[in-house]
Amino acid sequence: MELRQRINDQWFFSATYQSGLEKEKAFTAFEAVQLPHNTVELTYNYFDEKSYQKKTCYFRKLNLKNDSRHFVRFEGVMAVADVYLNGEYLTTHKGGYTPFEVELITSQAENILAVVVDSSEREDVPPFGGAIDYLTYGGIYRDVFLIERQGAYVTEPFFKIENLEAKNYRADLSFNLSEKAQLQVQLKGEGLAVTFEHEGQVGSNELAFPAMTVKEWSPETPQLYELTVLEGNDCLYQTKVGFRRAVFTKEGFYLNGENYPIIGLNRHQDYPYVGYAMPEEWQVEDVRVLKEELGLNMVRTSHYPQSPAFIAACDELGLLVFEEIPGWQHIGTGEWQAVLLQNVEEMVVRDRNHPSIVLWGVRVNESGDDHGLYTKTNALCRQLDPTRQTGGVRYLEKSEFLEDVYTMNDFSYDGGDIKRLKQELGEIATYDNVQTKRIGLRTVEQVAGEKVPYLVTEYAGHMYPTKRFDQEERLIEHAMRHAVVLNAAYANPNISGAVGWCAFDYHTHENFGSGDRFCYHGVMDNFRVSKFAAGVYASQQDPAIRPVLAPLTNWTRGDRNMGQSMPIYVFTNCDKVEVRYNGKSRGFYEREANGALNHLPYPPIVLKEFNFLWGEPFGPLDIIGYLNDEVVAVKEYANDPVLSDFLLTSSHDTLVQSDAWAATKLTMKFVDQKGNLLPFLMGSVRLETTGGEILGGQDVPIIGGSAVCWLRTLPETHGEIKVTARYGKLSQEVTIRVEKQ
Ligand code: GAL
Repeated sequence: MELRQRINDQWFFSATYQSGLEKEKAFTAFEAVQLPHNTVELTYNYFDEKSYQKKTCYFRKLNLKNDSRHFVRFEGVMAVADVYLNGEYLTTHKGGYTPFEVELITSQAENILAVVVDSSEREDVPPFGGAIDYLTYGGIYRDVFLIERQGAYVTEPFFKIENLEAKNYRADLSFNLSEKAQLQVQLKGEGLAVTFEHEGQVGSNELAFPAMTVKEWSPETPQLYELTVLEGNDCLYQTKVGFRRAVFTKEGFYLNGENYPIIGLNRHQDYPYVGYAMPEEWQVEDVRVLKEELGLNMVRTSHYPQSPAFIAACDELGLLVFEEIPGWQHIGTGEWQAVLLQNVEEMVVRDRNHPSIVLWGVRVNESGDDHGLYTKTNALCRQLDPTRQTGGVRYLEKSEFLEDVYTMNDFSYDGGDIKRLKQELGEIATYDNVQTKRIGLRTVEQVAGEKVPYLVTEYAGHMYPTKRFDQEERLIEHAMRHAVVLNAAYANPNISGAVGWCAFDYHTHENFGSGDRFCYHGVMDNFRVSKFAAGVYASQQDPAIRPVLAPLTNWTRGDRNMGQSMPIYVFTNCDKVEVRYNGKSRGFYEREANGALNHLPYPPIVLKEFNFLWGEPFGPLDIIGYLNDEVVAVKEYANDPVLSDFLLTSSHDTLVQSDAWAATKLTMKFVDQKGNLLPFLMGSVRLETTGGEILGGQDVPIIGGSAVCWLRTLPETHGEIKVTARYGKLSQEVTIRVEKQ
């Protein structure tokens, strides 16, 4: 039997560490913290990334009964954890992205758990040792569980599915059992109820499920089944599983027997002010954003395993996952490689029961060839999970192909920049100077030397960094570059799809990005607010799921070069749009028959014709989207925008205060008379709250017309929190309830 209790509360934190601190008995004098936790509070940008790269120490009192065995499970501690019980050393875990468990052997009822956390960029731990284009932060930033085990319990479960034909599957369940036990195994869900007895043996067990006809899992129909292992009434193990056929072939990706072009983005698990330390609910929210707001069917967890809640939400909401081991270009030696192999094992064992995962990344992102190391990572991965293909992301052409899928970062589309720069500078240093003909993407044969299963895992990104508050022209070009590459991926049936760089702006070291510790590479900013490029992705989804109308314009007369306002690329999944100018219809516009982006499921509709001269008076514009001759979406633009409204919304009316902190996202929008954001409004909003704490402080910057922040609970927060937001003479209020779990 196993009881799991999440213990994210009642921790004490020392922001400095000196040898022997783990023996400290008066630890309650340190700062009381709730997890998830970052070792320092950060400003939004321009902070010193060395500030969190240090040793710190966390303490927690644990009352343990001595009739069971106790374990602590850490889901993620950045980057090296030394665990002590009552001052005695127990174990060390290296690597900040994968879980570990440690048994607490003690005869005392009252115990002190101490975790010394080294968040420095140590050369013996991936991804460190070279340069990395992202920040890793520090501390105990994912959940911690206290696990009580008695008698028989299950570890390392693997539900291994095998497709027989069409929707017919069989499966093997393997696991380790600590004691002999008579078990009942159940698999239940839509149209399925399988139950059987199993005589559990100490050590490894394997049992076979009979042939079953199931409803298959896909992003469109994320059908899950509940798998339970019982001993009498005690639940030894429970999880959700799914059945699907997912295979990358030389002719593209096939899901459940059908060709399924992949459209995705990379995600870093990075947030303003707290780094990685956001509660699970916000990891889940990112899945919703990727799936529902951006309309994607795949996410790549660049460049490391992401939180268990994130992966589980991909199962539930329907998003394919390419999950990869930690690393960035650099390959270390000795201990570093041992830790990398351990990371492969921890990642696959943690996540192999998730139907959303269709590909494992077992190479360090963009590293060179290393025959010895990558033979081992592939072999280990295939041994732990023979059901999925492996990939390994590279940027080098014709690198050694030890994986099943050639996963390639193709940054060859540069919009003409390299040619221009070469004319100005002569030779230039670039990783991407490999293509003579720039058509969006290279062919599979050009990259791999032959036809192989092939997936594009990055493009765009650093080739064209774009801030949400950039000039309109840049936002358009940013969006169009994503569109050009996506179009090229759809055009080539041998390319399984394209996963762009990237979903959200992310923080980075000073040797990358815009100098303020940001890479502005997202189609959304770090608060998850859309740039124009988000509309390119969102508009590729079936309009039956959501009609999207995303014209790439702010409808101004002088923000684009030369005072131009055309063309307007309308990214939409509508059939046609009507344009109304100055209140009068200018007629209907459809897609061009031979449009340059016509391989996209929904190419943009391009408005070109009514241009104006610099300074010429102009009027309001409305773009109206039609599906089957019915109006489904309308975008209206004022020609004379003025600040007309200040809107405040809270993502939650009620927060539940459990052992972990909870947070609501407060979004403040400054809009014109047509409800559009005012992208160049400056200033900050002053927030006053009657409880909780605003991440980043009470003065919230207005960035690109909106001010976004999170209001978190503190252990003592309960009842109502009244939030008042003020901008000049304008103010808004919202009330949030905080309930105890
Ligand atoms: C790639 C790398 C990513 C990111 C991206 C920026 O080379 O894999 O992590 O740095 O470039 O475009």
